[in-house]
Amino acid sequence: MRSSVQWVKHDFSGAYNRKWPHAYFRAHLALDYTIPDRAKPVFERIFADYRRLRNKTELKIVDIGCSYGVNAALLRSDLDLDDLYAEYLGSSGSLSRRLDIEHSAFFHSCGLRDDIRFVGVDPSFRAVRYARNQGLLEGGIPADLEARDLTVKERCALADADIIISTGCVGYATERTFARVYKASAASRPWVVVFAMHPFSYDDIATTLREFALETRLVDRFRQRQRRFSTTTERQAILTAMAELGIEDRLERTTGYVYASCYISAPPGEVLYGRTLISAAKSQ
Ligand SMILES: C[S@@+](CC[C@H](N)C(=O)[O-])C[C@H]1O[C@@H](n2cnc3c(N)ncnc32)[C@H](O)[C@@H]1O
Repeated sequence: MRSSVQWVKHDFSGAYNRKWPHAYFRAHLALDYTIPDRAKPVFERIFADYRRLRNKTELKIVDIGCSYGVNAALLRSDLDLDDLYAEYLGSSGSLSRRLDIEHSAFFHSCGLRDDIRFVGVDPSFRAVRYARNQGLLEGGIPADLEARDLTVKERCALADADIIISTGCVGYATERTFARVYKASAASRPWVVVFAMHPFSYDDIATTLREFALETRLVDRFRQRQRRFSTTTERQAILTAMAELGIEDRLERTTGYVYASCYISAPPGEVLYGRTLISAAKSQ
């Protein structure tokens, strides 16, 4: 991404590594952060296709940038993101108090499905710990894989993965993190399904995944709303960067929201979606 955007992009980082998720949900609701919710039906469709193609029922999902287990909570239950916003932030919400026993009871009562198990990767160790304590994540890797490699134990936690997912994290996590995560789970040939906010480029990650013999496609029809622009300055910087990169900006200009593109990587022959092969052309 161009540096002009990096400097003006809204900074949520103060809410990433707290003991409790309330500040995270407050900061994200303020900008109508919606990507995990919008991504949910796309992930569900891809999970169904993966199950059919690989003849599997139980899935192990690795979530890069898992935070407080938001994707796990949504994908293992019937909750939507508005439910979570209301439960955490509403005055009578079941998660409004900072009491472990109430949080675990809430998620237990949601009947989290156990045919989808999650392992989360995120340097925000307090968020990962929260998600594990509430039973949202089966495993957690509280590490910045931009900066260091996985330990043997962490590598074992990623083995046998079926699908690697990510929302709201490309930019923080680059090809370095994706290479380390994929290498640890490569034996099971997981798919990689990622929503990357505009104008973050996915080219380097796609090129890295190509080295593991995966084809990456941009699936235009799975593009989803991420969040509102925070300021007119941010809007302008993102639109300028998108224009420079040739990213179509009709939705951003019309709605006041920034969108995320959906990229799906899979072994050749298993690629079901999209027409735009973004990595093969570069590496041939
Ligand atoms: C906008 S939040 C997205 C969280 C969650 N995926 C969602 O959509 O609600 C960005 C997350 O990326 C995490 N993050 C920052 N640097 C990272 C890195 N190097 N590797 C993985 N995650 C990182 C942050 O700690 C934070 O939890």
